[in-house]
Amino acid sequence: MDKMILNDGNQIPVVGFGVFMISNNGATYDAVLQALKAGYRHIDTAAAYFNEEDVGRAVKDSGIPREDIFITSKLWLQDYDYEQAKIGIARSLRKLDLGYIDLYLIHQPYGDVTGAWKAMEEAKEAGQIKSIGVSNMTPKIWNQYVPQFKTKPAVNQVECNPFCQQRELRQILDKDDVKLECYYPLGHGNADLLGHPLVTSLAQKYNKDAGQILLRFETQDGLIVLPKSTNPQRIQGNIQIFDFQLTEQEMEAMRALDTGKTTHDPEADGVEDMLRNAFVIED
Ligand code: A2P
Repeated sequence: MDKMILNDGNQIPVVGFGVFMISNNGATYDAVLQALKAGYRHIDTAAAYFNEEDVGRAVKDSGIPREDIFITSKLWLQDYDYEQAKIGIARSLRKLDLGYIDLYLIHQPYGDVTGAWKAMEEAKEAGQIKSIGVSNMTPKIWNQYVPQFKTKPAVNQVECNPFCQQRELRQILDKDDVKLECYYPLGHGNADLLGHPLVTSLAQKYNKDAGQILLRFETQDGLIVLPKSTNPQRIQGNIQIFDFQLTEQEMEAMRALDTGKTTHDPEADGVEDMLRNAFVIED
């Protein structure tokens, strides 16, 4: 699996297995074990996915050395201010029970993000977290919060795929060598993307499926991807993207699919309230 170097010197495998909306009653455990068997070495969870325990159990039972697996989790909104973030970080560490977390993110950019960030910086200094980052920050939100941070985020995890390539945001992130992690790298089931004639023709040319073409394009363009699948064949296939390369002309054609629009707009009215009221994370 190819890796990238983050701006803090740590390495991250460029394809991660996302466990959003997979339940904690064994389903996440099974999915993570299967992903690790298939060759994934990067798992992306969150306090708000309610499955950190299953992720931790699967990693421990996999027999793979802890240091060979990259684990991301995220701090939920209810835990933003400095004091509360310390509690949230400790809760994630306890539920995962893997000694340390490789990457921990501010999951949603609202409220006392700066206070929460300070607690994350301290956890990084203490070795409990190796890298820290943010998520769902648009250029406007990035400019609102990040100038106040002492430590630059290592990543910003946002919706990104050929239909929304985040070009403006990427220019801002590039200045500080901040890596962009794509959620919904396959368009979250958007049939217009997976069935786009350019994508299907490339799939035919390289003898790959449409999803593999999207993931190849994104990683070749310098992005980290978090594809989601519950299908064993596609879970396996989604990391078989390092044995071919798109030509520069094909990369340009893919870049031209950008519409500049995301399906989730973190700046939209009511989004913060909706997320805040969505659920409560318990100990
Ligand atoms: P499935 O779980 O049946 O594989 P995203 O990661 O952008 O949120 O997209 C997830 C969606 O893409 C799921 O519906 C998943 O379905 C589907 N998917 C995952 N891998 C592939 C692939 N290689 N080709 C086509 N669709 C895929």
